[in-house]
Amino acid sequence: MFLGFTKLTLLFLYTCCWVCVLSENNEVITCSNIVPLKYRTDNISLTDFGGVGDGHTLNTKAFREAIYRINHLSQREGGTTLYVPPGVYLTEPFNLTSHMTLHLAAGAVIKATQDSSNWPLIAPLPSYGRGRERPGGRYMSFIHGDGLQDVVITGENGTIDGQGDVWWNMWRKRTLQFTRPNLVEFVNSKDIIISNVIFKDSPFWNIHPVYCSNVVIRFATILAPRDSPNTDGIDPDSSSNVCIEDSYISTGDDLVAVKSGWDEYGIAYGRSSSNITIRRVSGSSPFAGIAVGSETSGGVENILAEHINLYNMGIGIHIKTNIGRGGYIKNINVSNVYIENARKGIKISGDVGDHADDKYDSNALPIVKGITMANVWGVKVLQAGLIKGMKHSPFTDICLSDINLHGVNGTRSRTPSWQCSDVSGVALQVSPWPCSELISHQLGSCANYY
Ligand SMILES: *[C@@H]1O[C@H](CO)[C@@H](O)[C@H](O)[C@H]1NC(C)=O
Ligand SMILES: *[C@@H]1O[C@H](CO)[C@@H](O)[C@H](O)[C@H]1NC(C)=O
Ligand SMILES: *[C@@H]1O[C@H](CO)[C@@H](O)[C@H](O)[C@H]1NC(C)=O
Ligand SMILES: *[C@@H]1O[C@H](CO)[C@@H](O)[C@H](O)[C@H]1NC(C)=O
Ligand SMILES: *[C@@H]1O[C@H](CO)[C@@H](O)[C@H](O)[C@H]1NC(C)=O
Ligand SMILES: *[C@@H]1O[C@H](CO)[C@@H](O)[C@H](O)[C@H]1NC(C)=O
Repeated sequence: MFLGFTKLTLLFLYTCCWVCVLSENNEVITCSNIVPLKYRTDNISLTDFGGVGDGHTLNTKAFREAIYRINHLSQREGGTTLYVPPGVYLTEPFNLTSHMTLHLAAGAVIKATQDSSNWPLIAPLPSYGRGRERPGGRYMSFIHGDGLQDVVITGENGTIDGQGDVWWNMWRKRTLQFTRPNLVEFVNSKDIIISNVIFKDSPFWNIHPVYCSNVVIRFATILAPRDSPNTDGIDPDSSSNVCIEDSYISTGDDLVAVKSGWDEYGIAYGRSSSNITIRRVSGSSPFAGIAVGSETSGGVENILAEHINLYNMGIGIHIKTNIGRGGYIKNINVSNVYIENARKGIKISGDVGDHADDKYDSNALPIVKGITMANVWGVKVLQAGLIKGMKHSPFTDICLSDINLHGVNGTRSRTPSWQCSDVSGVALQVSPWPCSELISHQLGSCANYY
């Protein structure tokens, strides 16, 4: 009887979700038009530069020469496609250039060498002041772009394989000298499209756009083992106008985490993340599905996450910051989320994350304001929510509406609970009954409260 009810409700929820993602003229809603698609007039193949896809030959020279050729020679109006045919292309890290498409054919694998001793180092990001996990510089990302414009990574779902286990093991044995490489990083770049590519076994974060604008990531599949350390899926960092859609992410850390710099370095650099849409993303992780933080020192605002399906999670939605971070987190909307099997449904917390060093300003308190979560449905959720503001900077205008989080076996005795402190806002049709810090109503929507 109970099961029947649940199924019916889910069916209803599912049907309802489809209605919501279609616009009035029945087109699927998308933000991907923020970067126009380019028709490339020039097409070169990696094999023209000596590329060998046998899984053993090192193709570093082939990639670097092909990209040098795109950068320096006979650049035509529409830019150049670098075609990577089927095969396994082992290579050291390489830089992309502007006005190019890296096209991975079906069955093409660009595979990172496991020789970490020759991996190039680059400067730390100014908004972090140091490498994220080790002081000093950091290893360059496997596929890197700095100061670029109009770059596409796409194809027929070929694979970019980071072979991260050597790096994970160095982390586990504490033998890392510098911060591990991201799989793909764009720094100071704009008009970037990443689509129809599989990302596998990243040494560290998978896709990291930092100081970027106009970035589209869609139809991406991002995979790393559940126990792989810090393998975040997509981390938009001090970046604006980012569109993440139609992707499946299953990794060892947060699936999508919006960031903007670390403590005093992020405050000084002062570059926010804004206008970020995350839509139709699903996956699994022992950490969070949709995260903001914890490095948010440049500020994070105008974030929309909707139609998110999460399975076997640590935390469904996690907004996290800390003393010393400064900055702000505001105007965050998360809606139409399904969570199945999680330690926590929702967490908004002011005491998460480590510090860059002990020079952080303990008076630099973040402002967390204007967070809306609507239509969140959870089953097998151990704890409904934890909202822990800061005593000297309480979280305000928090609105929860139409939230239903069910316990492990759906009985009253196992009903998950809320725990709150230093927070104000409203809760509309929230079950189980939310904490008393939020004013509860049985009717209305969050839009009425702003
Ligand atoms: C680019 O070249 C490769 C082979 O060199 C070919 O297979 C592919 O279809 C070409 N792509 C386009 C868009 O012309
Ligand atoms: C790649 O670009 C970075 C940043 O522009 C530069 O420091 C580095 O030397 C380049 N590395 C390679 C291998 O070309
Ligand atoms: C590639 O993967 C995406 C996302 O899973 C899927 O929508 C698309 O149909 C796939 N494309 C091809 C050519 O297999
Ligand atoms: C964010 O989007 C709004 C509305 O589309 C636009 O007016 C604003 O300029 C964008 N902000 C940035 C930083 O690009
Ligand atoms: C979030 O929702 C509020 C209330 O409905 C709305 O005013 C605001 O523009 C939305 N923000 C984003 C980023 O979608
Ligand atoms: C209910 O949950 C408890 C604790 O998680 C578990 O021991 C028990 O087997 C579950 N019962 C059913 C019927 O699933």
